[in-house]
Amino acid sequence: MCIRLLFVIILSTSANGSKRHLSCTTYHFQDSGNDNLNLVHVKADSSKDTIHYIWSTYNLPSVIVSRTTLDTEVKLDVEKFRTFEDGALNFSKNPLAFTGLTISELFQLSYQNDDADIDNAIRIERLSLQDFLWNNASYESLKCSDYSASLELKGTSDDKAFSNNGSFKLQFSVIGDEEAAPDSPHLIYTGNSTQIRINLENLSSQNSSRVRYGLELKMFSHLAATCSDMHCKLDTSKVISDEFSPGIFSEIDILSPCFKADNEKGSFLTWKPVSYTSKEPSVQNSADAKLTSTCSSTSISQIQSVAELYFNEEKNIAVNDFNVTFGTKGDGFYTKTEYTSWSLMIGTGVSVHYKLSIAVIVFITVGMASLLIFLVMGAIYYLVRWIRRKDDDLLLGDNS
Ligand SMILES: *[C@@H]1O[C@H](CO)[C@@H](O)[C@H](O)[C@H]1NC(C)=O
Ligand SMILES: *[C@@H]1O[C@H](CO)[C@@H](O)[C@H](O)[C@H]1NC(C)=O
Ligand SMILES: *[C@@H]1O[C@H](CO)[C@@H](O)[C@H](O)[C@H]1NC(C)=O
Ligand SMILES: *[C@@H]1O[C@H](CO)[C@@H](O)[C@H](O)[C@H]1NC(C)=O
Ligand SMILES: *[C@@H]1O[C@H](CO)[C@@H](O)[C@H](O)[C@H]1NC(C)=O
Ligand SMILES: *[C@@H]1O[C@H](CO)[C@@H](O)[C@H](O)[C@H]1NC(C)=O
Ligand SMILES: *[C@@H]1O[C@H](CO)[C@@H](O)[C@H](O)[C@H]1NC(C)=O
Repeated sequence: MCIRLLFVIILSTSANGSKRHLSCTTYHFQDSGNDNLNLVHVKADSSKDTIHYIWSTYNLPSVIVSRTTLDTEVKLDVEKFRTFEDGALNFSKNPLAFTGLTISELFQLSYQNDDADIDNAIRIERLSLQDFLWNNASYESLKCSDYSASLELKGTSDDKAFSNNGSFKLQFSVIGDEEAAPDSPHLIYTGNSTQIRINLENLSSQNSSRVRYGLELKMFSHLAATCSDMHCKLDTSKVISDEFSPGIFSEIDILSPCFKADNEKGSFLTWKPVSYTSKEPSVQNSADAKLTSTCSSTSISQIQSVAELYFNEEKNIAVNDFNVTFGTKGDGFYTKTEYTSWSLMIGTGVSVHYKLSIAVIVFITVGMASLLIFLVMGAIYYLVRWIRRKDDDLLLGDNS
C-alpha cells in the first residue's frame, strides 16, 4: 500500500505535460421510447488548446475527442442528435485533431470445449446493444470537478442474457493531468485522452455454461491531407511489469492511419491485454482481452451513434472495425464469476505508457541497496553466532 502510494506520488510529480482544467455540460432528452439521450460534453482547457470530450450512450455507446484552439466555440443541437440529423455538432473553427469510437456490438460466444478462440465458438449471438436502457446522466452518475470528470452509466436489456439482473456498466473518465488511473490495470491519463471502462456483470446464459463475451469497436480517425492509407496500425509494445499491473508485459496501441510518433494530429486507442474476472483485480483474477482481428478499414453504412453522426459529415475519415474477446482457456468461462471488466483509453496525439522515472530508479536502487545491506548484516550475524556456538560447544565438550 505504502509502496503503491509512493509510486503514485512519484508518477504524478514526474508529469511534464501541461495540466488541463475541466468543465462539464450535460444534455438530456427523453425519447418517447424511453431512450435517455445522455450526452455529456467535457471541456478540457490547457494554456494552449482545448480538448472536447463528448460521451454518449444514445443508441450505441460512443465518444468524440476533438482538440481545438482555445477560442473555438462548440454548438450542440440535442434534437438533431436525437433524430440523427446532420449539423448536430459544430465547431466554430476546424479542429486541430479529432477521433472517435463506437461500441457497436456485444457478442455472446458459446463453446463446445474449454476454449477461448473466437474462431472455435460454436455459436455467436449478437445481443442488441441498440435496445439497451441506460440510466440518466445525473448528479449521481456524473462527477465533475476542475481536476477530473467521470460518468458511470448502467445499461440493461430485456435480452435473456440480462434476465438475472445482468448489467453492462460503462464508465467514461478524464483526468486533467498525467497520472495513472486508480483502477486496474492503471492506464495513464494525460488530459489528452479519455478512459472507457466496461463491466459485464451477472449476465446469464440459458443454454450453456460455456460462454464468453466479446465486443466490436469502430474507431474513427481524421486523415491528414497527405495520407492515402485507410488502415489503422496495430502496435504492441513490451513494457515492464510495473507495480500497477503485475504480470502484464505488453500494451496494445491502435494508431490512426499514417500515424507518426511526433504527430500531434494523430490519434490512438490503447489498452493492456487483460480483463478482470472479479471486482478485486489481481493476477489470479485476470484473463485475456484478446484482439481478434486486424486493422481493417470499413465505412459508415448506417448511423447508429452520436460519434457516427459527427464523423459521417466529415471528409477524410478512416473507419476501422475490430473485435476484442474476453477470457482465457482454463478460466472456467464467464459463468464462473459472472464478471468481466476491461478498460481502454482513446485520445488525440500520442499515447503515454508507464515508464520508469529517475525518482523510481533511485527508489528501487536505494531499496535494493538496503536489502543487500540487510542480507549482508544478517549473514554476518549468523556467522558470528555460529562461530560463538562452536566455541561454546567446544567449551561444553571440555567441561564434560
Ligand atoms: C451547424 O452548421 C450548419 C451549417 O452551417 C447549420 O445548419 C446547423 O444548424 C449548425 N448546427 C448547430 C448545432 O449550430
Ligand atoms: C432523466 O433526466 C431528465 C432531466 O433531468 C428527466 O426529465 C427525465 O425524466 C429523467 N429520466 C429518467 C428515466 O429518470
Ligand atoms: C433483481 O434485483 C431486484 C432489486 O435489487 C430484486 O428485487 C430481484 O429479486 C432481482 N432479480 C433477480 C432475478 O435476481
Ligand atoms: C497533450 O497534447 C498537447 C497538445 O495539445 C501536447 O503539447 C502535450 O504534450 C500532450 N501531452 C501528452 C502527455 O501527450
Ligand atoms: C450481481 O449479483 C451479485 C450477487 O447476486 C450482487 O451482489 C451484485 O450487486 C450484482 N451486480 C449488479 C451490477 O447488479
Ligand atoms: C438456446 O438454444 C436454442 C436452440 O439451439 C436457441 O433457439 C435459443 O435461442 C437459445 N437460447 C439462448 C438464450 O441462447
Ligand atoms: C467480429 O466478430 C463478428 C462475429 O464473429 C464478425 O461477424 C465480424 O466480422 C468481426 N469483425 C471484425 C472486424 O473482424
